[in-house]
Amino acid sequence: MPTTTPDTLEVAPGGVLRGQLRVPGDKSMSHRAILLGSLADGTTRVHGFLDAADTRATANAVAALGVEVTAGEPMIIKATGREGWVRPDAPLDLGNSGTGLRLLVGLLAGQPFDARLTGDASLCRRPMERIVEPLEQMGADIETNHGCAPMSIRGRPLRGIDYTLPVASAQVKSAVLLAGLFADEETTVTDPFGTRDHTERMLEAFGASVHWNNRTAVISGDKELQGCDIQVPADLSSAAFFAVGAAITPGADVVLRKVGLNPGRIGALQVLQAMGADVDVSKPVMWAGEPVGDLRVRGGQLKAVRVDAAAVPRTVDEYPVLFVAAACAEGTTVFEGLAELRVKESDRIAVMAEALGVLGVHVDVSGDRVSITGGALRGGAVDAGGDHRCAMALAIAGLRAADPVTIAHCASIDTSYPGFVDHARGLGLELSGAPG
Ligand code: S3P
Repeated sequence: MPTTTPDTLEVAPGGVLRGQLRVPGDKSMSHRAILLGSLADGTTRVHGFLDAADTRATANAVAALGVEVTAGEPMIIKATGREGWVRPDAPLDLGNSGTGLRLLVGLLAGQPFDARLTGDASLCRRPMERIVEPLEQMGADIETNHGCAPMSIRGRPLRGIDYTLPVASAQVKSAVLLAGLFADEETTVTDPFGTRDHTERMLEAFGASVHWNNRTAVISGDKELQGCDIQVPADLSSAAFFAVGAAITPGADVVLRKVGLNPGRIGALQVLQAMGADVDVSKPVMWAGEPVGDLRVRGGQLKAVRVDAAAVPRTVDEYPVLFVAAACAEGTTVFEGLAELRVKESDRIAVMAEALGVLGVHVDVSGDRVSITGGALRGGAVDAGGDHRCAMALAIAGLRAADPVTIAHCASIDTSYPGFVDHARGLGLELSGAPG
């Protein structure tokens, strides 16, 4: 187990990333593997499970629902099928994890018992109406705190619905599909945006009755899930930090092994390629119905691009680090349609605009559009706002700053990437803990 990430980090200038690495397991898939495993009949072994604060919160929640979970490699989940959960004795605390909370609400809505869910201060500020609205259409009875967690769910019989996503959110789509496992008829979700389809792919791996194409997913609860072996690839959202770190530094050369390449996730790679980065994918394989491959990125001079709103669903978590790529590119990069970034673990537009401004980058924010003009970066003291992805993105920015960059409020890196500091150092980023 890697050491706890210090809350303040300092990056010394001049690093060049070189070498090979397998970043930790995919967070989206790890949540789904543990949730589906906990409702399956028999034993599920999850290889490459992400052992981080977010996914541990989901593991603790299913343990509180009466499922036997044994941490380790692989993680082992012994469950007794769809009716195996029991009423939890205490509120389920999902910590910082929006995915854990929203997917669990979908699964709890149709249970024959009540439950209460909560999380940390950041999670309790995030919008939950987006899942409550379709789940109430299915017959769910959910009480929120002004549209946010903590929330109480009174388990009720559910009916199938035909729902079109009003917001580009895989978490909303997944909450509805997972509730559909407990509904009396088919549930259909239409997704006009093309959000990640890990839930659909993994439901199929567990033998569920699910059919989907790139727009519509249909599920019914008429088949029991079967315990199985799931191989979780490395998380592209974690690999993206080193991919950008390599792309912005001439002479860098990084290979990121066994990375999940779900088409609903690869926006950052497409943006980097459009900016002129040297990105190469090799050794393609399929794991649990998901494309996986090795990613090689070599450094050079990037050029500005326009990234339109259609890219958001497949890029959503990577904007903080793409802002860093834009800060190092020639010209002004324009990112459009970023409203969702304001309701992530932090307001990522505000946090990144403020921090990049400190480093001397010209950032213009106009509504949901962000324009960033590349140029020389200076050092300075910035604040990651307690947001893991902003913290790691700012550490990568330090690669190209002329002087040291000190980053406050980085401990949240452990929610998705414990070991980031060691991995970054291993590749050549001069990163260390600093007094807070
Ligand atoms: C996720 C979906 C995305 C993403 C999050 C993980 C998932 O959230 O930002 O990190 O696992 O389904 P939204 O559904 O809110 O877009």
